[in-house]
Amino acid sequence: MGNSLCQQVPSLKDHFSRYFRVGTSVSSPEVGYAGDFIKHHFSSITPENELKPDSILNQGASQQWGGNVNPQVSFGEGTRAILRFCEQNGIALRGHTFVWHSQTPEWFFKNNFDANQGYVSKDIMNLRLENFIKNTFALIKSEFPNLNLYAYDVCNEVFLNDGGGYRPKGQSRWMDVYGDDSFIFNGFRYARQYAPQGCKLFLNDYNEYIPAKTNNIVDLANRLKQQGIIDGIGLQSHLSTDYPDIQTYMTAFNKFRGTGLMIMITELDITTNGDFSKQAQMFKDIFQAGTQTSGQLHSLTVWGTTDERSWRSSGHPLLFSNYQPKEAYFQVMTVGVKEEEKEETNLRH
Ligand code: XIL
Repeated sequence: MGNSLCQQVPSLKDHFSRYFRVGTSVSSPEVGYAGDFIKHHFSSITPENELKPDSILNQGASQQWGGNVNPQVSFGEGTRAILRFCEQNGIALRGHTFVWHSQTPEWFFKNNFDANQGYVSKDIMNLRLENFIKNTFALIKSEFPNLNLYAYDVCNEVFLNDGGGYRPKGQSRWMDVYGDDSFIFNGFRYARQYAPQGCKLFLNDYNEYIPAKTNNIVDLANRLKQQGIIDGIGLQSHLSTDYPDIQTYMTAFNKFRGTGLMIMITELDITTNGDFSKQAQMFKDIFQAGTQTSGQLHSLTVWGTTDERSWRSSGHPLLFSNYQPKEAYFQVMTVGVKEEEKEETNLRH
C-alpha cells in the first residue's frame, strides 16, 4: 500500500521539528496497516474518535458502580491500539475531548445513567464531569504510564458558528443541564486538577476564523486565562480553497495569538474542487505562518493521513492521496528551505 514508497519522501515532522510538532488524526486500524507511514511523518497523534465520550464512557459499569455521580470509563481495543502505538513509538498524544455536544451519550446527562429518565441537577452533573475527567486521566496513566499526553481538548465547539455566543439549550445537553457556561469553567478547573504534568489544556473550536466567532472564543479564552485554568486555543481549521481566504484565516490566527496563550492547529484540512495549486498554496501559507510565531504554535495537526481516509466526503482535503505525496505536501516542504540555504551560504563566506 505504498508505505515504503512514502518513506522515501522526506519526513514532515523532521522538516518542522525546530518549530512545532506535526500531527495527524488516526483511526485505530490505521496504526496497524499504515504504522510506518505515520511514524515517518508525524510526531503527534489525535485519535479521530477513540477518546471521545461515546467511545470511553461505559454505561453498564456506570450504572453498576457509579452511584449516579461517578461515570466509569473503559478503553476498547481501538483506543488501546492507538495509545499503545503512541507510547511504544514515542509519539505525543493530543486527547480529544471531554466537553462536547456531539458524540456524547444522552444517558451521561440523565438520572441513573438512563437515557429514558430526566436530566440530573447541576450539582450532580458537576460531580459527573469531575469524575469523568479524573477517571479518564487515571485510566490513561494506569494503562499507558509512559505515554506523552501533551495536550487535551477540554471543551470542543461550545460556540455557534456565527458569533451568536454559546450553543444554546436544545443544541447542547450541557446547556440543557446548566443553562449557563459554568460547565466550561468547571471542566477546565477539574482538568487542571487531574491532568498529568505536562498536559496542556485547550479550548478547541471550528469555523474559528469567522470574525464574530473569533471574538467569542478570544473573550472566553481570556476569562479562562484570568483564572489560570487554560493553556491554549485549538483552531480546528476545516477549510476549503473557496472559503475562507487566507487573509481572513490569518487575521483570526493572529487574534488568537494576541491572547498570549499557546496555539495549536488541531484539525487542518482544505477541500478543493480541483484547484490543487491553490490548495497547496494555502497549506504552505499556514505551515509558513506556523514557523513565524516564535514558538507560540506548538503543533499543527492535519485531520487525517490520506484523502481516502478523510471524514470530509469529497474534496481531496489532505497532503497525501493513497499515502502518496500531493502537490500540497511538496509545497509545504519548501517552507523555510530558502532561509536555510541562505544561512548555509552566509556561513560559508
Ligand atoms: C469527526 C471524525 O473525523 C469522524 O470520523 C466522525 O464520524 C465525526 O467526527 N470536529 C471535531 C472532530 O472536533 O472530532 C470531528 O471528527 C470533525 C469536526
